[in-house]
Amino acid sequence: MPLDMLRAICEDFLNTEFPLPRSAIILSGGEPLLHPDFVEAGDIVRKLNGHLTMSTNGILIPQYVHTFQKNDGIQVSVDGDEGAHDFIRGKGTYAKAVKALQLLDEHGIRHSLSFTISQANKHCVDHIMDLCIETGTSTLNFNIYQPVRDSDLKHIGYMEWIELRKYASKRAEKEGISIPEGCIEGGCIARILGLSVLPNGTYWDCSRNQKVIGQYPQPIKEVLLWDNIWKQKPVNPFETCCRNLTW
Ligand SMILES: C[S@@+](CC[C@H](N)C(=O)[O-])C[C@H]1O[C@@H](n2cnc3c(N)ncnc32)[C@H](O)[C@@H]1O
Ligand code: SF4
Repeated sequence: MPLDMLRAICEDFLNTEFPLPRSAIILSGGEPLLHPDFVEAGDIVRKLNGHLTMSTNGILIPQYVHTFQKNDGIQVSVDGDEGAHDFIRGKGTYAKAVKALQLLDEHGIRHSLSFTISQANKHCVDHIMDLCIETGTSTLNFNIYQPVRDSDLKHIGYMEWIELRKYASKRAEKEGISIPEGCIEGGCIARILGLSVLPNGTYWDCSRNQKVIGQYPQPIKEVLLWDNIWKQKPVNPFETCCRNLTW
């Protein structure tokens, strides 16, 4: 995404009148650290939003860790133990993700771990929690894998995920790790309080649902579900990202 477009979209988003006390801009992808002008892109977001929040596979963190600030929020994806993570993401990638968490911890940069659960890694919950403890990671995002085209990964059932979450939350409480409630349990906010923007300027309702709802330079206020916003009514996630899950 060109930097001018990034700036304009962030400004439009922040100026859109949400009935919310605060807003968040998350650089994701794809892989945000592959942007040729990543440092400048991060500075634009920091200037507008106070800090940078980002989701990464961690591979390029050694190159960029010196450019982060302590109150940025860097989320590294770890999809299980070495066997499961490398099976899902490619050989050698687990070691790089762990190294990224260690470096962020050493530099005192706020960091979190994102674990996306499928049949390939559902046995790794304790491993992920151990890793959080070892790397000073106090927030764990515990996601369910949504089946998508062009992937052989098999999803788990919704209730199985709820049970694994309950197990993880019990241990997390003892260890002082926070597992935030997500939009799936809290009510889908796609196109109500949030949206995703692709590098080509296409608006999606949510990266997990991938319904095209507009295109930059169309103003963001034109693509939101205002009726739901005024009535404070979330969408049913089983009509969006969870529609392909089994119960
Ligand atoms: C799409 S990635 C992009 C950022 C970065 N490249 C990374 O690997 O984290 C952001 C997060 O979405 C998760 N994710 C990817 N595909 C998913 C799917 N089909 N269902 C649920 N989560 C998914 C990833 O595991 C990752 O934690
Ligand atoms: S589509 Fe799914 S991931 Fe996206 S906001 Fe709705 S419930 Fe959350």
